[in-house]
Amino acid sequence: MCGIVGCVGYRDAVPMVLDGLSRLEYRGYDSAGMAVIDGGTLRIHKVKGKISQLRATTPAGFSGTIGIGHTRWATHGVPNAVNAHPHTDPSGRIAVVHNGIIDNAQAIKDSLLARGHVFRSDTDSEVLAHLIALSRAPALAEAVREALGAIEGTYGIAVLDLENPTQIVAARNGSPVVIGIGENEHFVASDVGALIRYTQQIAYLDDGEIAVLERDHFRTLSIEGTERTKGVETVDWSAGTYDKGEYEHYLRKEIFEQPDAVRRTLSGRLEPRFATAHLGGIELSAQEILRTRRVQILGCGSAYYAGLAGAQLIERIARIPADAEPASEFRYRNPIIEADTVYVAVSQSGETLDTLRAVQEIRRKGGTVLGIVNVVGSSIARACGRGIYLHAGPEISVTSTKSFTSTVTAFTLLALHLGRIRDLGQGEGGRLIASLEALPAALHAALATEGQAREVAARYREMTSAFFVGRVRGFPVAAEAAQKLKEVSYIHAEAYPASELKHGPLALICPELPTFVIIPDDELFDKNVATIREIQSRGGPVIAIGHSSALYDLTGEAILVPKLEPEIDPMVLNVPLQLLAYHAALLRDVDIDQPRNLAKSVTVE
Ligand code: G6P
Repeated sequence: MCGIVGCVGYRDAVPMVLDGLSRLEYRGYDSAGMAVIDGGTLRIHKVKGKISQLRATTPAGFSGTIGIGHTRWATHGVPNAVNAHPHTDPSGRIAVVHNGIIDNAQAIKDSLLARGHVFRSDTDSEVLAHLIALSRAPALAEAVREALGAIEGTYGIAVLDLENPTQIVAARNGSPVVIGIGENEHFVASDVGALIRYTQQIAYLDDGEIAVLERDHFRTLSIEGTERTKGVETVDWSAGTYDKGEYEHYLRKEIFEQPDAVRRTLSGRLEPRFATAHLGGIELSAQEILRTRRVQILGCGSAYYAGLAGAQLIERIARIPADAEPASEFRYRNPIIEADTVYVAVSQSGETLDTLRAVQEIRRKGGTVLGIVNVVGSSIARACGRGIYLHAGPEISVTSTKSFTSTVTAFTLLALHLGRIRDLGQGEGGRLIASLEALPAALHAALATEGQAREVAARYREMTSAFFVGRVRGFPVAAEAAQKLKEVSYIHAEAYPASELKHGPLALICPELPTFVIIPDDELFDKNVATIREIQSRGGPVIAIGHSSALYDLTGEAILVPKLEPEIDPMVLNVPLQLLAYHAALLRDVDIDQPRNLAKSVTVE
């Protein structure tokens, strides 16, 4: 969602704040702003638009050794310069940047209006600046603590105060905040990615914690005011992994990174000797695994679709009934938490609020929940306390690609691990290990279909809608592919289980509506061929994604990828469809890495 960044040290904070914001832009990007304290003056600069605009319009001489910044994805109030953060109190003493949503903002605003306060913006965040300024506490941390005591909702904040001009105070409740430790400077951000150029020494704030940053030290305290000791961790992602390098877009870079991402997800986790996977982080004993009667997977967007694939892997390989459900639906239906169910929360960012709340609900009710998460130290990873890190490397493009593939890889490892404690034989385990070892090379070969994906995108450049269909393991691929096409190229797309076509969607088949059929060479091949014929006989064009060269004769348009074991194939079949979405978007000249109305990490309801 929104991004926050701040810096206090010995040099001008503005270049750091602008650079940090541009690295956070993928989280939200409709307006931006920054504040600095410069020689006894609090100066603010805000714009509607992107960080490039903020940078280009920064007034000459706008500088200071202490500063904060924000990139916004509007929730309360339209995107414009007034609603952009930082927000100030009426006297211009306090500046606040805020991620999250203050649920009782209107009530606070009403009571302050009654006391004669004037508000400039339509945001919920502005009340924070007013409340902090109202406090009589001389120390900024105390004033922030008092103000937060009146707040209901979620926040990650950074605050500047003219009366405490050497400090940034940050606080967190439900929206991530990390502290960066440099030499003679300290940083704050909502994401490690904003800080990595400046330091790899990171401390993660927990919910209910406040940090006070000064040039040469930082301290943390609880919202109740007691001092806390914070461990400092070294993050091992280098600055280069956050750059586009030779690629024009992060999306294409991340699609092409998939062989490496999967290698990292697998690294050190295959145990050929026992034909199993070693997953130290899940902390489930063999007895607990034997007692498990169900696996329930939760996630949002692509994480949910990866969960659909994961549920099938667990059922097929470990023979444990498994299901996936959108985390948001789960959390609102007062779920029954079972002691013999293992819950799995999937999230690339580890910050998606619906998924986090689902985890908290499960834990509150005493359930066991594992995280499958990419960002180390993120809220969901910490709330689960156990699970599997993807190690896919930073994913910057709003549209998820490598995290989907790495997540399905992690599910294959989990299914193998669970299966080998239950009924999966050594031979079957060995077959899956060999296939997983071959996966990076197969993904690499699938990337060579880019030319064909580009041609298909060009041939159907006028399409306004498309269907994606698959059976059983083909269906999560279809669902993910429809999502990719929609979000990145703005072309309407629907996914159906292939067998469902005849129960309604077939009515829409016509020469203008292409159907992408995921048709692996497996036991359902003939059924999928029947689907293709059904579509063709109604005049609908079919593009087949599969393994068999017979598909060329059948459809005239097929993209073939290498075949591995049936359980692993969905990850490879997905690649040409990612490339299709990318090229369809390129032809439409849209903002590929930052599609309209979307954010990489949705930390609001
Ligand atoms: C947003 C993104 C999607 C992503 C989903 C879940 O909606 O635009 O690409 O799949 O959030 O994100 P997560 O970080 O939890 O995997």
